[in-house]
Amino acid sequence: MNLIVMKDYNEISRQAALLVAASIALKPNLVLGLPTGRTPVQMYKELVLIHRNGFVDFKNVVTFNLDEYVNLPRKNPNSYYSYMQKNFFRHVNVRKENIHIPDGMAKNIKEECTRYEELIRAKGPIDLMILGIGHNGHIGFNEPSDEFVPETHIESLTEKTRIANSKYFGSLSKVPAKAITMGLGTIMHSKKIILLASGRDKAETIKRAISGNITPRFPASVLRLHRDCTFIIDKEAAEMIKK
Ligand code: PGA
Repeated sequence: MNLIVMKDYNEISRQAALLVAASIALKPNLVLGLPTGRTPVQMYKELVLIHRNGFVDFKNVVTFNLDEYVNLPRKNPNSYYSYMQKNFFRHVNVRKENIHIPDGMAKNIKEECTRYEELIRAKGPIDLMILGIGHNGHIGFNEPSDEFVPETHIESLTEKTRIANSKYFGSLSKVPAKAITMGLGTIMHSKKIILLASGRDKAETIKRAISGNITPRFPASVLRLHRDCTFIIDKEAAEMIKK
């Protein structure tokens, strides 16, 4: 696992955007795994800017989002579908048919998980996976658990995650209880993984991801077993790493 520590949130966002753009320059039909949440917002802004300046073309890029809430209509502003339209897809030229986000409103959610996993297998492997990290070490919505769940599946969100996300929904009761998420195996099959983290509130999380036990109780720890995974984090998030 590689570690890059940069000055602040803007720097890590720009670095991540440049990495995505460079990967697309090298492989125009890149298969790109995408996260949501607070952390990647600025990376998406930077990517939109790079695109507007004519330095990146998403025409042949294929995207797979990590996760989506179950039972939250796409048009709800808190769905990850809406998030992706607002922050990224509306502003760039990724083809509609190349955008893949799990359907949290599917009649049969289990079947939807299987469909999504098979689609990733058919179109993948994911060349570049961008991740955020939850305070409890979750990646995608892979919550702390007794075992690593390899494939796309339904996850019951922990109280901690629902509280963290309630800031977007206005109240805890409105946060969906379940989500569809790529599994840890789905993520680990990506050729290259970049994890972004920013801020002092992620310092303890990053310390555990880098130096704690590799355990499903802290899902991000598994990334240490990947052969091409880089954490790009700012100084505040790096504060608790032993020098
Ligand atoms: P955040 O979420 O970027 O909003 O902190 C990260 C995550 O939960 O994966």
